[in-house]
Amino acid sequence: MALIVPSILSADVARLGEQVAATQAAGADRIQVDVMDGRFVPNITFGPLVVEAVRRHCTLPIEAHLMIVEPERYVADFAKAGADTIIVHQEVSLHLNRTIQVIKGLGKQAGVAINPATPLADLQEVLGDVDLVLCMTVNPGFGGQEFITSMLNKIERLRAMIQQHNARCDLEVDGGIHAETATQATRAGANVLVAGSGVYDAPDGIAAAIARLKAAVV
Ligand code: DX5
Repeated sequence: MALIVPSILSADVARLGEQVAATQAAGADRIQVDVMDGRFVPNITFGPLVVEAVRRHCTLPIEAHLMIVEPERYVADFAKAGADTIIVHQEVSLHLNRTIQVIKGLGKQAGVAINPATPLADLQEVLGDVDLVLCMTVNPGFGGQEFITSMLNKIERLRAMIQQHNARCDLEVDGGIHAETATQATRAGANVLVAGSGVYDAPDGIAAAIARLKAAVV
């Protein structure tokens, strides 16, 4: 059964504690904090302080998705703030193997993310080292975007690559995930789904939205 990971980008940040507690009560498997610096992506969002705040309001594993340049400079801060998994982007990690080792040395799970146009070949040397690969299904920076359907083939090829390398990492997708795309993405081989607007913008609320996503995965 695929894991459901709401991301707080679309949550009501004025009531973040309540929203996070409700997310856990609704059966989410993890929670993701979308960290953006206005340079790697055209938006600015959260820092380690928000990870600390989320940590105070739930016991779920927290993923810090660092959509920032020079992520290696901030890994220790997010680890200290309480993130359980730290995800860096391959596109801005000149020394990706070293950054992964640093994250693991801090006792955290290591994830690597790639944008829609980034080839899978850029992951193959680290598949055996990471706990999670994140295949972005939108161009990162904003919630509520449309799922890029051409990513379904990329997800299939990534799942095949993970199997060929006998890797044990999760295959996570992020962007435009709602019931229909959740079914498509899990059929293609994703086993962890990040959803922001699909959870927090749902007219019938967080619990119904998470139940819908859980029912939609194969
Ligand atoms: C990058 C952000 C979003 C967010 C999910 O843009 O990281 O992908 O998590 O946003 P939705 O689910 O609203 O597309």
